[in-house]
Amino acid sequence: MTSQRKRVGVLISGRGSNMRSLVEAASAPDFPAEIALVLSNVADAAGLDFARTQGIATALVEHKAFSGREAFERAMHETLVGHGVELVCLAGFMRLLTPWFVGQWRDRMLNIHPALLPAYRGLHTHERALAEGVKIHGATVHFVAPEVDAGPIIAQAAVPVLGGDTPETLAARVLAQEHRIYPLALKLVASGAARVDGARVLIEGEAAAPDALLWPTA
Ligand code: GAR
Repeated sequence: MTSQRKRVGVLISGRGSNMRSLVEAASAPDFPAEIALVLSNVADAAGLDFARTQGIATALVEHKAFSGREAFERAMHETLVGHGVELVCLAGFMRLLTPWFVGQWRDRMLNIHPALLPAYRGLHTHERALAEGVKIHGATVHFVAPEVDAGPIIAQAAVPVLGGDTPETLAARVLAQEHRIYPLALKLVASGAARVDGARVLIEGEAAAPDALLWPTA
């Protein structure tokens, strides 16, 4: 049973709290994936320390050390393949990826984005949501497509935007939901329950739990 768990490489650039939520979920013996590698492009990313304390293999591939984006990505790709990685999870990985790298991991690379895509692609999502006065905001896990913050959606969670919110309070409310839906999305993909169908993701058994992905339970 253990040998059937999908080997996951998590790419981070900083704090790594989403990576941590994946590591914690994968510690359950019946979780269909294991975190085989945590790779960072930033040497002092705090998430690397956490991964080391958990006895997880870590790798540093610094974009600064390469002459161009493709050379950097080829080094990352070789590292991932060298660790037997089958699925990649971007978790606060703050580099744009070329179509070449995205193509190598097509339908096998997930990203978490702090907004309800397709709204608020890009950076500063919480500031922009507050500035536009939306009443509902949230987070999305999706398969990675060549366009930035686009691709078939696996899971989303919505949160209310409250009157006194600042970007920080809203970010914290969204982050709590990120930590809930990223492990859920990885479980769906690693188990084979979620599969890409054109621009959408079909989820086996979803009809039995129609609101499982949408609204916070706590
Ligand atoms: C998370 O909020 C994640 O959604 C966001 O960066 C944060 C990383 O936090 N990602 C992006 O904005 C990517 N476009 P973490 O390092 O604690 O997981």
